[in-house]
Amino acid sequence: NMESKLQLLRKHVRTFPDFPKPGIQFRDICPILKSPPALTAAIDLFEEQVRTIHPQVDLIVGLDARGFLFGPLLAQRLEIGFVPVRKRGKLPGTTVTAAYDLEYGKAELEIQEDAVSPAQKVVLIDDLLATGGTLCAACELLLRLKAQVLGCLVLIELKDLRGAERLKPHTVFSLLQY
Ligand code: PRP
Ligand code: ADE
Repeated sequence: NMESKLQLLRKHVRTFPDFPKPGIQFRDICPILKSPPALTAAIDLFEEQVRTIHPQVDLIVGLDARGFLFGPLLAQRLEIGFVPVRKRGKLPGTTVTAAYDLEYGKAELEIQEDAVSPAQKVVLIDDLLATGGTLCAACELLLRLKAQVLGCLVLIELKDLRGAERLKPHTVFSLLQY
């Protein structure tokens, strides 16, 4: 059931204090990838959420880099396509770009202009929601392509950072909260 899948997932998140810098509690999802039952549980829970809340979804959009670990698995389960949003300079052809803030400085995300058609319905996925800057920038890219963002999925939500507030009016569904 759902509760035991969530318990299994929680057991497979490792916390590293002071990585990559002092004061950050780094939530490491690598043990989930290494455990077939834990990875299956994660995809099961995401699949259940999308089938229940967003049955009309056309595409899963995953964020560079850790969103790529879960997005294609979920898309394959749902028998729909996967589209990557990448850090700037990695995608060929015509792209659209959005800047976003990191703790130190700025970064940019990109999507191929023809990757999503106007009015297509997408669900975004990433491993973790912190400040929400990354998912916000990705939503902006999709709005520029005139896609319809149904919602966002993350494995882990860091509640103190209030990323869900920043993402409004978009909704975010998280499997685990810290
Ligand atoms: C991490 C994480 C999310 C983002 C969340 O990625 O995988 O994508 O930070 O932070 P935010 O909500 O404050 O934007 P990171 O930028 O470290 O890049 P990576 O996926 O390439 O490791
Ligand atoms: N990305 C941003 N903050 C993070 C954290 N605390 N752990 C893992 N990934 C992150």
